[in-house]
Parts: sequence; structure tokens; C-alpha cells
Amino acid sequence: MVIEENVPLNNHTTFRVGGPARFFAVARSREELWALITHAKDKNLPLLIMGTGSNILAPDEGWKGLVIEVGIMGKQFSDQPDGTILATAGAGENWDSLVADCVSKGFWGLENLSGIPGTVGATPIQNVGAYGVEIKDVIDTVEVLEIKNGETHSFIPTDCRFGYRDSFFKQEPGRYVVTAVTMRLSRNAAPTLHYRDLREHFKNHKETPSLLDIRTAVLEIRSRKFPDLRKFGTAGSFFKNPIITTTHLAKLQERFPDVPHFPAGEGREKISLAWLLDRVCNLKGVTHGPVESFKRQPLVIVNTGGATAKDIRAFADFVASCVKEKTGIAIEPEVNVLS
Ligand code: EPU
Repeated sequence: MVIEENVPLNNHTTFRVGGPARFFAVARSREELWALITHAKDKNLPLLIMGTGSNILAPDEGWKGLVIEVGIMGKQFSDQPDGTILATAGAGENWDSLVADCVSKGFWGLENLSGIPGTVGATPIQNVGAYGVEIKDVIDTVEVLEIKNGETHSFIPTDCRFGYRDSFFKQEPGRYVVTAVTMRLSRNAAPTLHYRDLREHFKNHKETPSLLDIRTAVLEIRSRKFPDLRKFGTAGSFFKNPIITTTHLAKLQERFPDVPHFPAGEGREKISLAWLLDRVCNLKGVTHGPVESFKRQPLVIVNTGGATAKDIRAFADFVASCVKEKTGIAIEPEVNVLS
């Protein structure tokens, strides 16, 4: 186990932003993870736990303490007596490789979540979701290490208090590190095609789409909407879609009758922020120096080259104030903005 010094975080985040981590190490096992946490405690170093940095905006000043990248690997698939399959992956495994494996093995459940950057361990933290599926729909258990005492716990979905891009782990940061995730999958065809983009894609399809058809469709749709990470820095959707009361929605509809909205629990509706940014705020494709509201999906903020965290935060504040001014809605970041 190597602890490196002064490691630039811009090389470890998909936004390509962030100053140096005073110390940086990769934990390849639970034991290494616990040893590193103990080391940080002994030396009084602030701790930052990361995957592959695809949902964070790291500060330009860097991180004064120890950054641990969770690199715990391993995948296991086991057939269960009830006909389902339990797929367990170490937190450091690449998410999309796991999805690809499951698709090629004929296991249903993860295909709509194709193409999402990042690691397996990050998925339960913000209850990753796309194209009509959220990770909470397939999670069986989440294995964690407790930072306080190094104990291992296995949480079932109700323990995780999943919500829209939310979980217990997000609500109580600094308590647990996810070390592995187990998902319950199925060999029986169970396509989830209600999300508009997928419905459109398969509207002339006569037979039930295969797992590979769905994965291919999702990858194709994503490539149209999201910037190529090889060319641009980004962390995907920068803000959450706001959830407002039905009363507030009715008021909003008086001015913007076409605003897309989706039921989000009793008396609440989720509003499409991309639509508000596009049609109401006219922000789609707007640039401030090296920061852009992506031309094809304005909810995505892009570092077109050389942006700092300060630039991105200033742009995000500008976007949030436009939305507030035009709609009265206070939007919240979806990306983990570190300070
Ligand atoms: N829209 C526009 N103009 C645009 C783009 C979109 O008006 O330029 C409107 C359309 O009405 C469209 C609607 O916005 O139907 C929704 O757009 P999209 O399907 O792209 O989804 P989203 O709500 O903007 C969410 C997630 C994404 C996820 C997609 C697909 C959040 C914050 N974002 O985006 O997740 O991939 O749905 O399921 O919930 C992420 O979390 O980082 C992320 C990328």
C-alpha cells in the first residue's frame, strides 16, 4: 500500500478540476481501507473517500488530508434457489463493466443503467438512476465499513433510506464506506421501457427487445445527450430535478403550461430542470469562459478546458439565480461540491 504525496485531484475527477491531495492512496481491500482510515485518525488528517471521481467537484485548493480511492475489486454471481441471481461486486469495480457482464450473461436488472461513469461503490450513495431504473430497485444488500470502529455491516434497502439521488449514506456522510454491493437480478426477460427516450426508440420494434438491444439503445441515447468524457470534463447532471408541491406546479403552469412534470409522491411533482434551463432561462449552450451549459443537455455543466472549481461554482450560482428569478424554485446540486 503506497501513500503518495501532493497528488493533483484534477487527474482523479471527471470534471478535471481540483488541486493537490496532501496524501493519496488506493485501498485494494477492506484491511487496507481500515489501515488507511486508522492512519488518518492517528495523524489527524481530514479524510476524503472517493471512487473514480465522476460525481464530485474538488476544490482548487485541493485536500489538506488523506484521499482514499476505494479500489476493492471482485465480482461474483450466484444462482439462488428462487431462480434469481445475486451479483456481488467490490466497490472499486467499474460500474459499466459490471453492467456489460450482466448483459452478456443474460441477467436482467442493470441494462437501463448502462454507460454511467464511476464505480460500483458510488451507486448506492446517491441512488444512481437513469432511463426509468434506480439502483435501489435492484439492490439486495450494501456492505459497508464503519469509519468509527472498522466494523462491517450489511444493509438492506430499507436501512439505506433511498430517495431521489439520496440515501442514508448521503444524509450521514463520514459514517460508512461502501465496500461491496449485491444486486438481485433475473434470468427472465423484464424490460423497463416506460422512460420516454426508450419508448420512442423501441416504438416500431415488433418483438420484446433483448438485454443487448436495451443496452445498445441506452448507450446510443446517452452518447447523443452527454459529452464525451475523453474530450470534456463533466460530472453529468450538475443539479437535481426540483421536486415541488402540486400547488406550486399549478402556479408554474399558469406561466409555463408545457413544463414536463412527473409524480414524486403524495402532493409532490418532479420538474424537468433541463426544460426550465432550455425554454425558460435560455441557458442551453451558454458559456462563461471555459464553462458551458452543455449544448445538447443543459443540466450538464462542462469544463471545456482549463476551468477551475471557482469558475464552475460561479457558473452554477449564476444558473441557480436565473432559475430562482424566473420560477421561484431553489435548485440544489446533484454533484458533490466539496469546499
Ligand atoms: N429537455 C429539454 N431540453 C434539453 C434536454 C432535455 O427541454 O435540451 C427536457 C425534455 O423535456 C426531456 C426532459 O428535459 O424530456 C428530461 O431530459 P432527460 O431525459 O435528458 O433527463 P433529465 O431529467 O434531464 C435525468 C438524470 C440523468 C439521467 C437522465 C436519464 C437527474 C439530475 N438527472 O436527467 O442522470 O441520465 O435523467 O434518465 O436526475 C446524473 O444524475 O448525473 C445523470 C446524468
